[in-house]
Amino acid sequence: MNYVTAIDTDTAEPSSAIKLHGPDGFAGMRKAGAVAARVLDMLVPHVKPGVTTGELDRLTYEFVLAAGAVPATVFYRGYSHSLCTSINHVVCHGIPGPKKLASGDIVNIDVTVVVDGWHGDTSRMYLVGDVPLKARKLVEVTYECLMRGIAAAKPGATLGDVGHAIQSYAESQRYSIVRDFCGHGLGRVFHDAPNVVHVGKPGKGVVLRPGMFFTIEPMINLGRSDVKVLDDGWTAVTRDRSLSAQFEHSVGITEDGCEIFTKSPAGLDSPPYSG
Ligand code: MF3
Ligand code: CO
Ligand code: CO
Repeated sequence: MNYVTAIDTDTAEPSSAIKLHGPDGFAGMRKAGAVAARVLDMLVPHVKPGVTTGELDRLTYEFVLAAGAVPATVFYRGYSHSLCTSINHVVCHGIPGPKKLASGDIVNIDVTVVVDGWHGDTSRMYLVGDVPLKARKLVEVTYECLMRGIAAAKPGATLGDVGHAIQSYAESQRYSIVRDFCGHGLGRVFHDAPNVVHVGKPGKGVVLRPGMFFTIEPMINLGRSDVKVLDDGWTAVTRDRSLSAQFEHSVGITEDGCEIFTKSPAGLDSPPYSG
């Protein structure tokens, strides 16, 4: 998605299906990524015990329109909100509504905006009130998984290298990696080639080249990796009800590494967001 169901990394897609963007694309993605990141910054003081996820969605809708952007997820495949809010054992695609956040919850907030036709897609974890150590540790390791995946994303490396960087670190901490959802190419299209799975073998899969844009968005579970989608058709939960965490950045491959389009301008990339 994470909308696309994950395929095996070894089944490399034809690289010709993957768009290579130039300076205009980088400029467009920088703007879109910055608006998406500012949404997640704006939400920080609002993510408190007692707030409803619907209220966070409403704040986001207004903020996005005021920024001259559009939420990509409204009218997307029947979805009608500006955010996904995935609490505790919800892996991804939690639907905002009347549910109130409670102290001890961990929640992923995922936003995608469109600016001048370009998509900025990012998510972060938020800690609500007093969060137990084992949940905070999961969140910390998941952020480190994202950053290790990003560090592996450079020209000449492969998507298998990216997946391996994430998988090997998560498993070294005895967590599991969700296989049913993955990162994705993006740009003028929301969910494009390639699929970016968060497990892999070094040297396997698509070879990265300058101008490729995609998300990395590992979902890491405290228990087993199995997920199921609830009857609403969206909400994905861990089958064993164990906690799940996720962070997401949109990146572009450069000549010597990658550029993160969705970095927080306020430095609020991972919690705790205040001292
Ligand atoms: N932002 C999600 C992703 O990372 C996709 C959400 S699609 C929705 O790809 F319809 F559930 F919002
Ligand atoms: Co995404
Ligand atoms: Co997203």
